[in-house]
Amino acid sequence: MPAAPAAFEPWCAAHLARVESALGEWIAPQAPAGLGQAMRYAVLDGGKRLRPLLVLAACESVGGNADAALRAACAVELIHAYSLVHDDMPCMDNDVLRRGKPTVHVQFGQAPALLAGDALQALAFELLTPEGPSVPASMQAQLCRLLASAAGYRGMAGGQAIDLASVGQALSEAQLRQMHQLKTGALLQASVEMGAACASASPLATESLAQYGAALGLAFQVVDDILDVTADSATLGKTAGKDAQNDKPTYVSLLGLARSRAYATDLLAQALAALQRSSLADTRALAALAKMVVERQN
Ligand code: IPE
Ligand code: IPE
Ligand code: MG
Ligand code: MG
Ligand code: MG
Repeated sequence: MPAAPAAFEPWCAAHLARVESALGEWIAPQAPAGLGQAMRYAVLDGGKRLRPLLVLAACESVGGNADAALRAACAVELIHAYSLVHDDMPCMDNDVLRRGKPTVHVQFGQAPALLAGDALQALAFELLTPEGPSVPASMQAQLCRLLASAAGYRGMAGGQAIDLASVGQALSEAQLRQMHQLKTGALLQASVEMGAACASASPLATESLAQYGAALGLAFQVVDDILDVTADSATLGKTAGKDAQNDKPTYVSLLGLARSRAYATDLLAQALAALQRSSLADTRALAALAKMVVERQN
């Protein structure tokens, strides 16, 4: 049940505007000694905001708490932005371009980049735990649990550790899939699960949305591997060709371009099938986001 682009575009524009404005408000300009500047530089004015859109679309599909979802959307983007700041540092991928700008460590230095990442991670959990009645305590706890688990050793940080340990290695398909599921898939899946956690969704809806998120999350990194080879730096806003340069095992190095594309298409079909199983009334935005992940040019 694809969303007509005409309906999806205004949906995206409206939700992106809410996310940008909330992020702009919540990222501490008053942080000392230039820290706030580095944090804002890392997060604002750039990025596709796919993870926030997934949170908001999932929340709407289950009729959830919109206040909680906006906080969750921003929290997951802060974790993502922190992961990019650290991923780009010389001790990791050593990249100089991100979101069309010099990377945070190039602009501000390595120690400020490290600290900006640390502070963004902490701020994410602060956003999820507001005082007052807007988000029930049990919902706050569940959102924190989902995000912490997807960001930590069972998710992004664990996947990044495998990534660094795999330089120059020929991984099996199962090993590569696990690395991609952890370093990228986990946070994307958590975005969907956090949206669902903004309501008391049925077990069927929760499970189907998690499966949608898992397929979409893996597809996202398969496409990231493809674009690293096929797109140019100006389109990507980050340096193209870095995976081969850094001798990283990727879907393209393992399967080649044609089979990687076919795999991404297959994962898209899996994501859409999971939405069908969910028995939710309106999953058009989620379906459109999955297509966007696979068809994107940057
Ligand atoms: C890039 O993520 C890093 C990966 C997890 C592959 P995005 O492609 O979502 O980056 P932004 O947020 O749009 O810059
Ligand atoms: C990064 O994967 C995943 C993260 C957890 C940040 P990549 O190293 O492939 O991301 P890009 O290509 O630099 O955006
Ligand atoms: Mg990396
Ligand atoms: Mg990288
Ligand atoms: Mg990449």
